[in-house]
Amino acid sequence: MLGNDDWWRDAVVYQVYPRSFADADGDGTGDLAGVRDRLGYLSELGVDAIWLSPFYTSPMADGGYDVADYRDVDPMFGSLADFDALVADAHARDIRVIVDLVPNHSSDRHPWFQAGLRERYIFRDKPNDWESIFGGPAWTQVEDGSWYLHLFAPEQPDLNWDNPEVRAEFRGILRFWLDRGVDGFRIDVAHGMVKAEGLPDVGQKDGPQAEMLGDEQVPYFDQDGVHEIYREWRPILDSYPGGRMAVAEAWVSSPERLARYIGPQELHQAFNFEFMMADFHAKSFRAVIEKSLKEAELVGAPTTWVLSNHDKPRHVTRHGGLARARAATLLMLALPGSAYLYNGEELGLPEVLDLPDELRQDPAFLRRGQSRDGCRVPLPWTSADGLGWRDPWLPIPAEWAELSAEAQQDDPGSTLNLYRAALKLRKRHPALGGGTLRWLDSPKDVLAIERDPGLIVVLNTGEEPARVDLPGEVLLSSGPLMEDGVIPPDTTVWLQR
Ligand code: NOJ
Repeated sequence: MLGNDDWWRDAVVYQVYPRSFADADGDGTGDLAGVRDRLGYLSELGVDAIWLSPFYTSPMADGGYDVADYRDVDPMFGSLADFDALVADAHARDIRVIVDLVPNHSSDRHPWFQAGLRERYIFRDKPNDWESIFGGPAWTQVEDGSWYLHLFAPEQPDLNWDNPEVRAEFRGILRFWLDRGVDGFRIDVAHGMVKAEGLPDVGQKDGPQAEMLGDEQVPYFDQDGVHEIYREWRPILDSYPGGRMAVAEAWVSSPERLARYIGPQELHQAFNFEFMMADFHAKSFRAVIEKSLKEAELVGAPTTWVLSNHDKPRHVTRHGGLARARAATLLMLALPGSAYLYNGEELGLPEVLDLPDELRQDPAFLRRGQSRDGCRVPLPWTSADGLGWRDPWLPIPAEWAELSAEAQQDDPGSTLNLYRAALKLRKRHPALGGGTLRWLDSPKDVLAIERDPGLIVVLNTGEEPARVDLPGEVLLSSGPLMEDGVIPPDTTVWLQR
């Protein structure tokens, strides 16, 4: 089945956080061999692709988003040979492989930074007022008194994209992984890289700048010059066979700004974070879906949907429980476009809220008191002691024995089997991921849509059971149903007319 150049348009992509997914060598940190061992699991789940968060050589100051060698695998995750074997086995199962590219910053352990190649970074005699996304100033002083810019942790110096050597290096890195057979890239901080000429002050002081400025642009994000870079990259992707793609992690102020990243000259798609941020309410979901569809029209490519990732609290916890999470998932998987799943959501894992502070590793916690570790806890594979791990890098709650893949494997009502059934139906009814969407009349707090003629999706976000007059055979439901035509609260149903 590999070979369809447009595969990404309605793909279900499974994000693997390699450190937490599966551990083949038993050292407490997940690895590429662990991912390879679980390809059977992923194939049974029914995903079209995996996206691997960074597994490159890294001191792990930011979970691998601090890269010291862009062309190698960190020994903690394995070797290039493990990577090649993973790609070969994934392709043999018709699973594509997307890797993470981190072009805004390198690690401070990168040979360029170590060798003092200052013109490849952003050094100044005096800092301006920019703040790090992780909190505190975005500048750190070095021994000779000068300062370097880091929009994230001090261990992540920003690269200087005005320097042609930096640009050439990343073109080479793209080719390196394309030559190894990757099917695409997730571009980290795709709205970063280019900074406004002269690095002007933002001029605002209280609170994180990037969030506070809302609709306005900060001088370090979403600068026009960044598009030049993507216009250089796209012909490289297009020169390889089989539909190599790129998806942008871009936080920008409006759909119109986001649209500028997408299209035949630039990137293929961008994450639609608004869906992830929507409240569990029919009205909020409808508003976001309508907006996203307009956006998709604007760029001529279907949008992406995402409910959880390694940066945000898991949606079981965000939306207030497993029933709601399952309902939101069935809504997402019936929307036109591609869907990005985050490892462990198929097990219904909640956010871990009570990790002891001394075990937390997220640099954002150290600088700003906010931690993303709770969604990065290793996945429970078995129900036996250790849940499939020996001394995992973050402790796994003992009660996750009930949520383990093993415990859910043969339980028809499990979340794992709900995801499997949904992905199977999505393959059988291509209209679920593609096609058209029509809103149907529905009671308050209920969202009802028709996907292509005949497939109906109904979600009840209200507190009372809702009677809907929509005849059809139930294909799948996120929770137990009551009498015919009555949808319980926090439930999504797929119907075939
Ligand atoms: C976005 C990544 O998803 C996040 O995990 C990381 O900390 C920042 N970019 C910096 O690379």
